[in-house]
Amino acid sequence: MSQDDKPHGLRRGLTNYGDRGFSLYLRRSFASSMGYSRQMLERPIVGICHSASGFNNCHRHFPELIEAVKRGVLAAGALPVEFPTISLGEVFLEPTSLKFRNLMAMDVEEMVRAQPMDAVVLLGGCDKTVPAQLMGAASADLPAIQLVAGPMSTSRHRGERLGACTDCRRFWARYRAGEVDDEQIDAVEQRLASTSGTCAVMGTASTMASLAEALGMMPAGAAAIPAVDADRLRMAEETGRIAVSLIGSDRRPSRIMTAKAFENAVRVLLALGGSTNAVVHLAAIAGRLGHRLDLDAMNAMSETTPVLVDLKPTGSAYMEDLYAAGGIPAVLRELRPLLHLDCLTVTGETLGERIDAAPAWVDRAVVHAAVAPVRPTGGLVALFGNLAPRGAILKRAAADPALFEREGRAVVFTSLADLAARIDDPALDVTPEDFLVLQNAGPTSEAAMPEAGYLPIPAKLARAGVKDMVRISDARMSGTAYGTIVLHVAPDAASGGPLALVRDGDRIRLSVAERRLELLVDDEELAARREGLPPRARKPTRGYQRLYEEQILQADEGCDFGFLRGLKVEG
Ligand code: FES
Ligand code: MG
Repeated sequence: MSQDDKPHGLRRGLTNYGDRGFSLYLRRSFASSMGYSRQMLERPIVGICHSASGFNNCHRHFPELIEAVKRGVLAAGALPVEFPTISLGEVFLEPTSLKFRNLMAMDVEEMVRAQPMDAVVLLGGCDKTVPAQLMGAASADLPAIQLVAGPMSTSRHRGERLGACTDCRRFWARYRAGEVDDEQIDAVEQRLASTSGTCAVMGTASTMASLAEALGMMPAGAAAIPAVDADRLRMAEETGRIAVSLIGSDRRPSRIMTAKAFENAVRVLLALGGSTNAVVHLAAIAGRLGHRLDLDAMNAMSETTPVLVDLKPTGSAYMEDLYAAGGIPAVLRELRPLLHLDCLTVTGETLGERIDAAPAWVDRAVVHAAVAPVRPTGGLVALFGNLAPRGAILKRAAADPALFEREGRAVVFTSLADLAARIDDPALDVTPEDFLVLQNAGPTSEAAMPEAGYLPIPAKLARAGVKDMVRISDARMSGTAYGTIVLHVAPDAASGGPLALVRDGDRIRLSVAERRLELLVDDEELAARREGLPPRARKPTRGYQRLYEEQILQADEGCDFGFLRGLKVEG
């Protein structure tokens, strides 16, 4: 930690008044006003970048976690300084949290760069906060380590185990189908999310936490520790100590999150049957470092990567069970022959060394052996074809294989408003064999790619017992949802992608085996329809909305902003 040759702590990036001595004198004076001793102010600084907010239930225990990180930093000889960034509480943002992920990433990047710190702990957890922090940290490229909120614990309703938010959907579907009454749904509402921490299943937050560990940005075993467990506080303390060890080292995000590390992360994502949203986020993080998430390569990996983890929404267990079963280290050990073992991690160990050091005991009900997997092939596939030239994503692990090789008639909804207005109309012309198509819910639409791809089963079919149908859109789906749902169709409809050309009654062919998604309409007809597309009417915009409209990229590029991608530019 010897920093004598380079400015460190408060001396970093001194404000330019043309007189460095004056700048340091002023900075120390203002820092002293917070009650620090001179001795403390001479230490290197570990920033604790966190997203606690009254609008983020998942992060409610952050004050306690921050205290524990500080303890670790102080014990290792540096000065911890916490600072907030904007927060993205998944269910509190309109029109959708994804719209603001890039804003948070910019906040993280610029505040890590602008403020005097020698290393940074990134404390996040809810779906978009971990990718936003990793994107920002990748671009700032200061030594960084991720700490997450950890998953919520489950609760009970009439003897049944409940955890956000797969059970939220299950009960709501039963309520819609008339199987659950008002009184019961009220009781369930009170019990679905009853502790701090992130959603209790392998949704987006848990998936991103697991991938941060797989990428090497977290200590081994850190992803799955429950939010309320004392082990999480100990992990926070340890994270603070490791952050100090990063100071002056070359263990920067760009050296840890390499192209090989992203391949490892994709393997783990497939083995988890993890969230489709993670494909977007991994593409965005990789794009910050000049890497591309290749969907064809993901398809090839999906053929050779088994699903090993039996967690909801695709299986039956919860994150707290994964922790008790051995956590991500147990998963990594099963994947060992498929991983790049020489990847460096924040602790200085290689991934291979971590796997060798992982505890031997595993609960096989939750983490299956590679020789006896939950499924022989990976949880996600990318589909291509004239309906999705730049790809679409299907979480086959959460879908009904009986619907995989099908041709269907399109029942088209032109917007979210149209969907809401007509989906439950008793007069809607729809059968269980039809394909429900939602347009104009992609990244360039006004809706900004919400988790609306989980189109509800039309009420009249739901009441008749229909549980799944093929659904196709340019939207996303919650990581806690399930069904035969084709998402992230790119380019999206609002940007004039082929999805915009689908009309009621068209035939669409889905083949998961061939990775195809085809609109069975001839090219002349499609060209004529394209001619007839109304010109895009845009309202005049300002502020972040304007930046978003000008810069937003498609799903295959992670929905990042064009000007934020690529390697860092010095100066
Ligand atoms: Fe924060 Fe689900 S709402 S993780
Ligand atoms: Mg979610």
